[in-house]
Amino acid sequence: SDQLALKDAYKKYFPIGVAVAVRNLHGDEAQLIKNQFNSITAENAMKMGSIQPKEGIFHWKDADSIVSFAIKNGIKIRGHNLCWHEQTPDWIFKGDDGKEVTKAVLLQRLKTHITTVVNRYKGKIYAWDVVNEAVDDDPKNFLRNSKWYQICGEDFIIKAFEYAHAADPSAKLYYNDYNTERPEKRDRIYKLLKSLRDRDVPVDGIGLQAHWSLQEPAENELRSAIEQYSSLGLKIQITELDISIYPWEPGKRDKKQGENDSFTTDLENKQAAKYAMVFKLFREYKRVITNVTFWNISDRYSWLDNFPVMGRKNYPLLFDRNLQPKKAYHEVVNFKNR
Ligand code: G3I
Repeated sequence: SDQLALKDAYKKYFPIGVAVAVRNLHGDEAQLIKNQFNSITAENAMKMGSIQPKEGIFHWKDADSIVSFAIKNGIKIRGHNLCWHEQTPDWIFKGDDGKEVTKAVLLQRLKTHITTVVNRYKGKIYAWDVVNEAVDDDPKNFLRNSKWYQICGEDFIIKAFEYAHAADPSAKLYYNDYNTERPEKRDRIYKLLKSLRDRDVPVDGIGLQAHWSLQEPAENELRSAIEQYSSLGLKIQITELDISIYPWEPGKRDKKQGENDSFTTDLENKQAAKYAMVFKLFREYKRVITNVTFWNISDRYSWLDNFPVMGRKNYPLLFDRNLQPKKAYHEVVNFKNR
């Protein structure tokens, strides 16, 4: 029927995942997760700042709850993430004297962090986002000028993959980024991935975050991106899928309350068509696409409610605020040969 669950409709294709917080793991949201999804990601609970807020002090509670919920319900787990420039605690870049640490010290700290986290969930987390968003947005630059880059150069990327692979040789290791379909960023991400492959760095694939909108991506750009990345022999996972009803507005940070915050039939139809288009491509490329994960469960809560405009409601997911399937959901589950 129409109400076939996502995970069942896509059984022959790829696991369908969802990003969660611990507060989602009871009540109606937990039920929806169990019914619809067969992969899970911690939206924030496994990031460095959450797990190791102070040196040597590891907070496992939330991450452990998500992992045990998944295992209990037969749901696969994607780990997110081991090295990023955001949600990274300040201590990691500083010595006791308050000065910036050396490259050797920083890499040692990165190694300790990655080894400890990956080892704790060894055999439970099947794929990790090892390095997140290391390529710059400005086409004039190559890598992002983060603290990691300033202190370690490109080596932090290589080392992060090596440490993760040493800790769990069976886990699949991903480089994860956004705007991966925009040609100028795509080419630079490709260059990074190619250089990693050429040096035998243990990278298995690329995560396309897929924070999209009604405008982006165009079908031909998404197709080209999938073709280009997979030409390196890499797998592709769609790691943070949502389709904003607002255009992408870089730098727009001010709250403009009440601004177009209603989900009209016209927007719902356009969003459904966009979801239909991208899932058609995902199915076409099932040979290389090995997971599709939504970034949150339903329109009840999304990070986009606060980004880039604080407090502006968005409606980016397949389920509405009452957890009822939207038009986009029907477009995604109803296809031939399911
Ligand atoms: O937990 C505190 C809470 O105690 C406090 O009262 C509240 C007040 O602001 O903040 C809460 O922390 C927030 C946290 O999410 C948990 O809700 C942070 O402020 C907020 O910055 C944080 O945002 C997360 C963001 O990453 C951080 O940059 C989003 O939830 C999360 O969806 C988002 O996810 C990222 C991916 O990891 C990487 N790709 C992009 C994606 C979207 O930005």
